Amino acid sequence: MSKTLTVRRLQVDLETPWPRHWTGDAFGSAWFNALSFSFPAGEQLFIDAVKQGLARLDDAGRERFADEVQGFIGQEATHRRVHQRFNLQLERQGYVNHWEGRIRRRILTQLARRDARAWLGVTAATEHFTAILADHLLTHPQALANAEPRLRELWLWHASEESEHRCTAFDLYRALGGNEAWRRRLYVVVTLHFALDLTRQTLHNLWRDGHWWRPAT
Ligand SMILES: [Fe+2]
Ligand SMILES: [Fe+2]
Repeated sequence: MSKTLTVRRLQVDLETPWPRHWTGDAFGSAWFNALSFSFPAGEQLFIDAVKQGLARLDDAGRERFADEVQGFIGQEATHRRVHQRFNLQLERQGYVNHWEGRIRRRILTQLARRDARAWLGVTAATEHFTAILADHLLTHPQALANAEPRLRELWLWHASEESEHRCTAFDLYRALGGNEAWRRRLYVVVTLHFALDLTRQTLHNLWRDGHWWRPAT
């Protein structure tokens, strides 16, 4: 069943600089910063995927999903904008975004000419990871207990909307008759890319920080 997704505008100051280790420790900050670097390109991919998926549905399907897709796009577009501002501050701190280029290259070389269902399969797989992380953050307040308060607010806001729209791409994939075996294959590919890219960007952030080899990290 289609659902209503509320788009919430977040009022948060992302102009005033924050400490490099804003979560309270070097590794946690490097890890969250790495995730943020993937969001502007990744969330644009998700938006394009659901738009293509909606366009491929028949009239009844479009009527069923129209509101949910509109809400999904509104939420992800807002996340993109906020994380672009967050990432700008990270770049001022000397961090370099290597992940975004890899996402854009994969879209051009592996997704560009593919069916909308491939885009949705990739989106559903990635949204599965963001939903797991979101649920963890929302049910384990200690994870960000020592974080800079305005950034904690940002990540919990994003987490709650990720948890809300976790099924949208998956439901659209199914509504378009997406094949279950292909969805699982895409899930494996996305899992490998996601794990590798997150690790590489986290290590790179730690290297920029001078904290790569420190025992405390
Ligand atoms: Fe998002
Ligand atoms: Fe999402």
